Amino acid sequence: EQRDRKILHEAHDYAARYYHYLLLNTEFGRAAKAYLRDRGMTDKLIDQFMIGYAPDRWDALTKFLEKRDYSLSLMEQGGLLSAKNDGSGYVDRFRDRIMFPIWDRDGKVIAFAGRVLGDGQPKYLNSSDSMLFHKSRSLYNFHQARPSIRKSRKVVLFEGYMDVIKAWQAGVHNGVATMGTAFTEEHAEIMRRNADEVIICYDGDDAGQAAALKTIPMLEKTGLRVWVALLPGRKDPDEYIAEYGPQSFLREIMDQPVSVTKFRLIFLRKSHKLLEEEGRKNYVLEGVRIVAELDSPTEREFYLKELSREFGLTLDVLKQECFQIRETMRKVHPQRDKDEQSWNNGMNEG
Ligand code: GTP
Ligand code: MN
Ligand code: MN
Ligand code: MN
Ligand code: MN
Repeated sequence: EQRDRKILHEAHDYAARYYHYLLLNTEFGRAAKAYLRDRGMTDKLIDQFMIGYAPDRWDALTKFLEKRDYSLSLMEQGGLLSAKNDGSGYVDRFRDRIMFPIWDRDGKVIAFAGRVLGDGQPKYLNSSDSMLFHKSRSLYNFHQARPSIRKSRKVVLFEGYMDVIKAWQAGVHNGVATMGTAFTEEHAEIMRRNADEVIICYDGDDAGQAAALKTIPMLEKTGLRVWVALLPGRKDPDEYIAEYGPQSFLREIMDQPVSVTKFRLIFLRKSHKLLEEEGRKNYVLEGVRIVAELDSPTEREFYLKELSREFGLTLDVLKQECFQIRETMRKVHPQRDKDEQSWNNGMNEG
């Protein structure tokens, strides 16, 4: 097992350098290079993130590894090759794809994500989980971002590899991403061990915003302070930077994250028809419900004031509404009530 791991590490390192070489120095890589150029990827970034290209062949990496006497069955277990259906041998798992190596925290290559050139499906193909690679606890770019994360005690969480890379170029050196699958509690734990705050910067589309809502409680549970950096017009960070430039990304997006409560209220607002009476009413009532979850009376008042201003309702009415909701929560969660009583020491409710 330990020996197999060592061999697989070595093979992944070879494979990353092989794909990188094919991209930069051979005819195979021509179209991929043009694609990357087109997306604004510089030579420097291609080098730093060791981006490569897997050629459109069944046996490129297979031959490469075979020549170096690697056990192909081990290579298949490690996610570099696929077994042929008829059991007669192995073929390359990644074909005609831009290759993004995935590193562990020590900077060893443990997996790949391969992107199609253009619009094919699946857009990204990842290595399957293996003895080296566990999607549920891998964070793309963590090994390069760690010094900056630990120094600033902040980590920026993106959705995509490209977003991490382009943000890096813009000067965000504490950015990471998950492997496309859901964010897990293990990811949150890793962040907690290295930072105090997280800025979620997911895509501005509905999927990205919904994913942020799901990620937030997992992060908060570990005690991390959470912020959300919002992108306008359904763009993702890569698209935003391409359109408005790195300075705008840093100043308008990275430097202006909103609180989780504010984010929830913004999301809520977008999902209600504010031109209709019913929509406005439900928005306010559900908004108060969000505010009622906050433990700090000051924070509650702050957001209730904002809500009251929006539709010209009095603060008093919203406070009353909020109080009622908290009373109900109390009855449903008596333990929580007790915890809070000892904290607040019988302070006035708002
Ligand atoms: P680009 O189109 O290259 O800019 O990718 P993106 O990062 O903007 O992709 P998108 O916003 O569609 O998805 C966000 C992340 O989800 C990606 O970076 C991947 O990690 C993951 N993802 C997207 N499509 C797929 C897919 O088809 N398969 C898998 N496994 N993951 C995907
Ligand atoms: Mn998306
Ligand atoms: Mn995206
Ligand atoms: Mn994108
Ligand atoms: Mn509703």
